[in-house]
Amino acid sequence: MADRLDGRVALVTGAGSGLGRAMARRFADEGAAVMCVDLNEEGAKDTAAQIAEAGGRSAAMRLNVTDSDAVKDALERTDQELGGLQIVVNNAGVASPEWDLTVDVNLSGVYYGLVHGAQMLADRGGGAIVNIASVAGLNALVSSGVALAEGEQPPPDRAAAYVASKHGVVGLTRQFAVNFGQQNVRVNAICPGYIYTPMTAGTTEIPEGEAFLQALHPMGRLGQDNEIASAAAFLVSDDASFVTGVALPVDGGYSAR
Ligand SMILES: NC(=O)c1ccc[n+]([C@@H]2O[C@H](COP(=O)([O-])OP(=O)(O)OC[C@H]3O[C@@H](n4cnc5c(N)ncnc54)[C@H](O)[C@@H]3O)[C@@H](O)[C@H]2O)c1
Repeated sequence: MADRLDGRVALVTGAGSGLGRAMARRFADEGAAVMCVDLNEEGAKDTAAQIAEAGGRSAAMRLNVTDSDAVKDALERTDQELGGLQIVVNNAGVASPEWDLTVDVNLSGVYYGLVHGAQMLADRGGGAIVNIASVAGLNALVSSGVALAEGEQPPPDRAAAYVASKHGVVGLTRQFAVNFGQQNVRVNAICPGYIYTPMTAGTTEIPEGEAFLQALHPMGRLGQDNEIASAAAFLVSDDASFVTGVALPVDGGYSAR
């Protein structure tokens, strides 16, 4: 594994599961010390333990990203415990039809990571932030309907909160990239297509659901968590030193049509 992140310190939100865990592990494999934070403290601790077992440096703590002060504290604690913070990944998210919850976690949570994180990185000479948006940050979603009971109609506002929150993440990414462009803080987003994680398991575990999702991607398959982790590792590394303000689809061609 490349050592592109040797000596760097990263904080990853939602690191107790799925994409957050995969990114935390990948950053550690590339040499970074990683603070794993999640609402699910056990999950965050498991990820940190996996990193330590593989010979990496990590720590874990519980964090609810909807609490602005707690996000600021977590960033400061990472800086103190693991050394100078240079990388922040705002990944924690929920897939829910509930407006307040979805906007609080997916949009406000990312905003707090940006508003506190970008300034902290700037004060320390620079760094990189990656926000995990979605193809739902670029386009509307279509639903398979496989989870509905016979005769049940999908709610009229089914993916509205999720799509709005993820479009907001793309907007925040661009705005903070512009705001911090001259302070050596790069801010980018990844827009994953459907990836096998606990978030999508409810659909992928049903054969018609999985087939429906596969057919949405021109490559004919869903993605794996490590395919998002490798894009994130690129974006936070010096290989992406002139890349800022982009919303990068990593989606098997989903957003190409
Ligand atoms: N899996 C996909 O297909 C897919 C596609 C596009 C975008 N995404 C996005 O990727 C991100 C990660 O999703 P995933 O698939 O790994 O899901 P996941 O459910 O496996 O993991 C999400 C993690 O976020 C944590 N979390 C939830 N609310 C939180 C809060 N308030 N504070 C802190 N942590 C909280 C959960 O505890 C969980 O560990 C999300 O933002 C999601 O919207 C996922």
